[in-house]
Amino acid sequence: MTVPAVDRLYLRSAIRLAEKGLFSVTTNNPRVGCLLVKSGHIIGQGWHREDGGPHAEIDALSNTVEDPRGSTAYISLEPCCWEGRTPPCTTALIKAGIARTVIAARDPHPRVAGGGVRALLDAGIEVTEENLPEETDALNPGPLMRGENNRPFVRLKTAISIDGRTAMADGQSRWITGEEARADAQYWRARSAAIITGVGTVIADDPRLNVRDQRFGNAKPLRVVVDTGGRTPRDAALFGEKGRIAIVCAKGVESINRAEMWEQQVGPAIDLAKLLETLSDQGCNEVLVEAGATLNASFLGQGLWDEMIVYIAPRLMGDTARPLAALGFTGMEEAISTTVKSIDTLGPDLRIVLTP
Ligand SMILES: NC(=O)c1ccc[n+]([C@@H]2O[C@H](COP(=O)([O-])OP(=O)(O)OC[C@H]3O[C@@H](n4cnc5c(N)ncnc54)[C@H](OP(=O)(O)O)[C@@H]3O)[C@@H](O)[C@H]2O)c1
Repeated sequence: MTVPAVDRLYLRSAIRLAEKGLFSVTTNNPRVGCLLVKSGHIIGQGWHREDGGPHAEIDALSNTVEDPRGSTAYISLEPCCWEGRTPPCTTALIKAGIARTVIAARDPHPRVAGGGVRALLDAGIEVTEENLPEETDALNPGPLMRGENNRPFVRLKTAISIDGRTAMADGQSRWITGEEARADAQYWRARSAAIITGVGTVIADDPRLNVRDQRFGNAKPLRVVVDTGGRTPRDAALFGEKGRIAIVCAKGVESINRAEMWEQQVGPAIDLAKLLETLSDQGCNEVLVEAGATLNASFLGQGLWDEMIVYIAPRLMGDTARPLAALGFTGMEEAISTTVKSIDTLGPDLRIVLTP
């Protein structure tokens, strides 16, 4: 069915509403927006405001300026039809007397996956489906990935020199890029449910890995250190900041301060696929890897990545400096090919976003 231009207009507004949850909805649920329109007027709007809070449809219904009976609900994602932490949204829409719904994407969650549309149709509500994948996938890459592959959406973030170096031979890496690039990195942290780093980076840089930019609200992603033997220093700056910290280590490693010790049976190193599965089970939608050449190589080499944000500074660090990923390749046939998604200038630096 062709969707009239006005439907697209309202649907895009619903997607803009969903974006308001970018930094507060990072685990379990997707980011969703809902607009209620009656006789050409917007009578209610809502979005999923925080993890575990009311869904967008309920939020919109709770702030209508007139009776929603007979209105059209524009929703950025198919409404849920099962009782989770909150009652099903389809029931609320039916009870409220909504006459028509226009949705931008089906919910891939196995307990919805078309069930929301069916429930509405069964109740005599007209449903118009408009696929806007570019906008909706960018909003919720995590739930999609978790549904399909039982792991979060994995973003790698790295700052390199124009000759591809991430740190000097002695470990120094502050600062390769300028303020603008470093400020941009805060955005990626804030929309992530977890930040993953390696113990090598914790020892060399002593990063806090928190969100300091007030524009991103109160985002406190879980910070995860991959650290087989428990080498994380007890006075690491990580511990000085609020928020959960997990150290992924071998069995029997002694506790380190207030960190949660996630013990794993380790082979040569921590099993990253298993770690990602654990993070998905904990509801993490998007994770950001901010690590050195060793851990980067493991994620890249195992194909456990979906997007790579590379900040490139126009300076040379020389051939004794460390690479982006210590992959140890010897033949061209081993090279990992990527696709450029976008290129932007940030102050003196470039930001390239790559996909596999
Ligand atoms: N330019 C940038 O964007 C950037 C960002 C971050 C860091 N850095 C620089 O990178 C340097 C640190 O890099 P790094 O390579 O030494 O450390 P790293 O990649 O941050 O951490 C590597 C360590 O993680 C542990 N590990 C456990 N399981 C692993 C697995 N499956 N795969 C890989 N590693 C695993 C290993 O230590 P155990 O065996 O003890 O577990 C390993 O040595 C520093 O100089 C820092 O300044 C640069």
